[in-house]
Amino acid sequence: MNQDTKVLLNDGHRMPIIALGVWQSQEDTKKAVLDALKAGYRHIDTAFVYDNERAVGEAIRESGIPRNEIFVTTKLWNDDIRSYKIREALKTSLDNLGLDYVDLYLIHWPAEGYVEAYLEMEKLQKEGLIRSIGVSNFRKSHLENLLSQVHIIPSINQIETNPQMVDEETIQFCKENKIVVEAWSPLGSGACLSIPAIQILANKYHKSLAQVILRWLLQKGIVVLPKSIHENRIIENMNIFDFELTHEEMNLMNQLNQHKRTGPDPDCFNF
Ligand SMILES: NC(=O)c1ccc[n+]([C@@H]2O[C@H](COP(=O)([O-])OP(=O)(O)OC[C@H]3O[C@@H](n4cnc5c(N)ncnc54)[C@H](OP(=O)(O)O)[C@@H]3O)[C@@H](O)[C@H]2O)c1
Repeated sequence: MNQDTKVLLNDGHRMPIIALGVWQSQEDTKKAVLDALKAGYRHIDTAFVYDNERAVGEAIRESGIPRNEIFVTTKLWNDDIRSYKIREALKTSLDNLGLDYVDLYLIHWPAEGYVEAYLEMEKLQKEGLIRSIGVSNFRKSHLENLLSQVHIIPSINQIETNPQMVDEETIQFCKENKIVVEAWSPLGSGACLSIPAIQILANKYHKSLAQVILRWLLQKGIVVLPKSIHENRIIENMNIFDFELTHEEMNLMNQLNQHKRTGPDPDCFNF
């Protein structure tokens, strides 16, 4: 495993296993994306609702890196799912990003109408506007419902995953169906960066807590999307390919799970 490592998706595309997340990066988004691309990131995770797709697009163009070397994810917002404005929403995101396709388009939350939205995304994929299609915040029950009604198995399920929040049932279901899991809030939005057991591992490997957590997720086969607006942390979060947690240490990390969400519950959200 090295920093160029990509995972093969079930549709044949390859996706870098570490991305820069830009939720709440606000006016620092463009600089953060430029810093990340300079540091070697080739995968950016944004969403229509983050209100920073334009800044992501500007940074990509300014970086001078060829478009086909950067993997861009954005997400279909709930209002557009409920009002079935799938095509319009994708067009708006593409305009914002200044791109003619996205590498990955995700249903952001399992809002009412998600099956119909997904079926429309299948068409947009055939038209070449989306390379890979996926979902986010889907639990096993949502995935079972989706898979029984659509033609294409999603490539990705992006769910909250960090040391204190691991939905093993959903992760296992994804594995069985060749759906790659991406961890949002891999650091628990910062809340997991003071856990004593992780500090012990950080000391052993001369790494930060963030690096130990991200390494644990990668070793579990989960793609990570750490967010930072600080260049030193952006670089630090990528520098996780020169150590390996042992089987016992992986188990120790797994035991920290408390099923404690930092974000909303996909079974009862009200937005
Ligand atoms: N699909 C969804 O519904 C969904 C929901 C939430 C998030 N996401 C995605 O997941 C990404 C990451 O989630 P997140 O933003 O909630 O949280 P996160 O990546 O778990 O944590 C980000 C927080 O940790 C800090 N941080 C980052 N690296 C650090 C380091 N090396 N040392 C110390 N502190 C560090 C950041 O501060 P600074 O920025 O100040 O450095 C920020 O406060 C988002 O940006 C977004 O792309 C998706």
